[in-house]
Amino acid sequence: MKRLVVYYSLSGNTREAAETIARALEADLMELETEKSMPKNFAAQIIVGGGQVAFNHIPKLKPLTKDVASYDEIILGSPIWNSKGVPAVNAFLQDEETAKKVTSLFFLSGGGEVEKGLTAITKLLPNLKNTVSLLDKKHADSKNNDEKIKEFIGQIG
Ligand SMILES: Cc1cc2nc3c(=O)[nH]c(=O)nc-3n(C[C@H](O)[C@H](O)[C@H](O)COP(=O)(O)O)c2cc1C
Repeated sequence: MKRLVVYYSLSGNTREAAETIARALEADLMELETEKSMPKNFAAQIIVGGGQVAFNHIPKLKPLTKDVASYDEIILGSPIWNSKGVPAVNAFLQDEETAKKVTSLFFLSGGGEVEKGLTAITKLLPNLKNTVSLLDKKHADSKNNDEKIKEFIGQIG
């Protein structure tokens, strides 16, 4: 089973989880990056990112660094923006064959609602089996992330 962990991360939380999961599964790792970078300032990120989610904007991605077609399974990681997955992840899932390979999904949030994001993304992922919702390092309950990641890895098998 050839596995790829794919993620987008603006401030590092999803990257850290992706690295842990890839290491545990002995999977390859690929970061999604948009051609246009996001503002550095958090308030501006909320305006720009929030607007992109609201208008279902599909950004242009930088060229992928792995040949996705050569993998059997994808484990996908996304931060939650405005209660949903990020535009870069939606861009990655525009290819139906790619979306079919995603069996497992991990979300990183600030502690807000993730159900809306899960419902929206589930529609794009016909073979989704495992999901886990993790918390930003700034959240007090993020200390439970390690345990949740362990369980998630166990489910992936
Ligand atoms: C544009 C934007 C919108 C966000 N919207 C939400 C939200 O609706 N709910 C929530 O719980 N967290 C929200 N967050 C917080 C992120 O989901 C959280 O900080 C996450 O850990 C970021 O992951 P990263 O460090 O990999 O970028 C938002 C962050 C940004 C930048």
